[in-house]
Amino acid sequence: MKILVLNGSPRPNGNTAAMVKTFKAEADANGHSVVDFNVCRMNIKGCLACEYCHGKGHGECAQKDDMQQIYKELKDTEMLVLAAPIYYHGISAQLKCVIDRFYSALYPTAPRTLKKVAMFLSSGDNNMYDGAKFSYDGDFLGYLGLEGCGIFTNHDRDVMKKIADMAKVL
Ligand SMILES: Cc1cc2nc3c(=O)[nH]c(=O)nc-3n(C[C@H](O)[C@H](O)[C@H](O)COP(=O)(O)O)c2cc1C
Repeated sequence: MKILVLNGSPRPNGNTAAMVKTFKAEADANGHSVVDFNVCRMNIKGCLACEYCHGKGHGECAQKDDMQQIYKELKDTEMLVLAAPIYYHGISAQLKCVIDRFYSALYPTAPRTLKKVAMFLSSGDNNMYDGAKFSYDGDFLGYLGLEGCGIFTNHDRDVMKKIADMAKVL
């Protein structure tokens, strides 16, 4: 399976990065093809709501920034992993920017290849995940109808094992 991981933590050795590392190692070992981007190191601007993508652009975004690298992968990826720290009760702005830019590629429908989604979250306090969960449930499971492989957080007991187990049964 082709898997696209989008990491929205700027900390290269942080909690989110550790979850991504565990997932990638296990998914690789199980024969999956994982492409991961740290979106904090990319030049990705916010959605302009210009609607070029839904008109003249025929699905192409008008902005030619690093999001183009992600659009290329989205065309045939089968699973999306959204990974981020919680900042002020929501996912980091860096990942939120990317999700807003999904507007050209995943709205009104996602490519048929895209079937699954998972989320990795990291926060200082526990129970800080309602905002991120609302988007995961509403946008990715509900609206897009993807199969949810779970939300994993740094406060979950044995989270690395749980992530590795999930990667084994994809
Ligand atoms: C700008 C900013 C806002 C934050 N807001 C919250 C918050 O609302 N709730 C919380 O529990 N932790 C908050 N934190 C703490 C981070 O979520 C926490 O340190 C997290 O584990 C960082 O993940 P990382 O190691 O993957 O970068 C915030 C941290 C920063 C830098």
